[in-house]
Amino acid sequence: MQQYLELLNQAKAILQRNTTTVTVNGKLYERRIPSKDFYVHQWLWDSAGVAMGLVHLHEEAAFNELLSLMSGQWHNGLIPHIIYNPGASKYYPPAEQWQTGGFTREGIQTSGITDPPLLAIAAEYVCEHASDDQKKRDFLTVALPSLMAYHDHLKRYRDPEECGLLTIVHPWESGTDDSPRWDSILRRIDLNVIPASIKADVDLNRKDITYQSSAERPTRADYYRYIYLLECFKDLAWNYTKILHETPFAVKDILFNSIWERANEALAALLQTYGNQEKANKYQRWAEQTQEALTNTWSEEHKQYCDLDVTQGRHRAIAVPTNGIFMPLYAGAVTDHQLDILLDRLSNPEEFCTEYPVPSTALNSRYFDKERYWRGPTWPITNYFIIEGLKAYKARQQHADQLANFFMRKTIQMISDHGFWEYFDPLGDGTDDHAKGIGFSSFSWTAAIVIQLLNMMRY
Ligand code: DGY
Repeated sequence: MQQYLELLNQAKAILQRNTTTVTVNGKLYERRIPSKDFYVHQWLWDSAGVAMGLVHLHEEAAFNELLSLMSGQWHNGLIPHIIYNPGASKYYPPAEQWQTGGFTREGIQTSGITDPPLLAIAAEYVCEHASDDQKKRDFLTVALPSLMAYHDHLKRYRDPEECGLLTIVHPWESGTDDSPRWDSILRRIDLNVIPASIKADVDLNRKDITYQSSAERPTRADYYRYIYLLECFKDLAWNYTKILHETPFAVKDILFNSIWERANEALAALLQTYGNQEKANKYQRWAEQTQEALTNTWSEEHKQYCDLDVTQGRHRAIAVPTNGIFMPLYAGAVTDHQLDILLDRLSNPEEFCTEYPVPSTALNSRYFDKERYWRGPTWPITNYFIIEGLKAYKARQQHADQLANFFMRKTIQMISDHGFWEYFDPLGDGTDDHAKGIGFSSFSWTAAIVIQLLNMMRY
């Protein structure tokens, strides 16, 4: 462990540097921003991941991180993917663009869509690792009603057909914005129907590519479509019944739903320990329903789980080989037969076992692009889910445990050799550290995941 002390200290320093405090309506919120460049607000799944690392350093800060996220909850239960820090202006789109003012607590500005619902998982993890019982109870007094309202909102508006899989309506909700999984759906949004005013706004105000190379970020056409969707939902006054019918992007995403499965298990476990068996049963049932539905997205032809394009009445499987296909491991949804195939694919150097595994898109896929955001690079966050998922299958297959340990060592080595970047070149063949580590540096959830992985290695 001694060899990792320096790495741990660097991780701590990054989380410290990325801490902001803001006062809204006389109330003080403490939160970590993903990075000092561009991502200067609070993101839902980033912050949930950050809290899971932070609890090993500073319990109160971990609780504050999650409570700060919950402060952005809408009156109808939605927890949005961005809680804006007043006055911070490096990010595009700005808070005003969403026009969500009527839905939030006074003075709090948020986006209008959500993120992979990692929050209940983080709440359970933080409670499990925190030692101060009184603080835990104080936290849960606020957190449990908030988490239940969030899950009830998602179930009601994103799974009206009660099939066990939630629908996402924007690539940003997937967390894997420009994944090739979404290409076929996004291409149907004809760029000619996107108003010139939206294109002009993106061209003039988009900020990410002013800080870093456009080769590492989503394309201009992607951004036109992202903002077009935002404007469509705004026109529908954020009415999610209408949005689900009308959106040109509606998907049952296997990554999002694997987290949803696990989040319901986490919420059920918290309710069971802290009080309400009947409510716990409800979320446990939802978890089981999702688990079964995920298993059934398997395609024997493509040897993978498939996202489902459900846009405007469609029901079409999307079979693109990305690291999302391993997420059902995290949800415990994998049969013996499926496990054998997933382990083979994860061990294959031509697909997912690259120099720095696990690439976000298979190396031998025609979509693979080693430096562009979610189209090839390796991300510490998805590695963490895959490692946790594999560990859960170690009793069934020793190979699962060996791969988990291998990915754990490789992830730590990748970060310790090149720095705390947002994502990494999966081939590790860039000429300098910045070519191997990509995106923004001193990234909070990369730091948090190092802390979690080092903690896992101790057991
Ligand atoms: C971004 O802006 O890159 C985010 O992924 C959207 O939330």
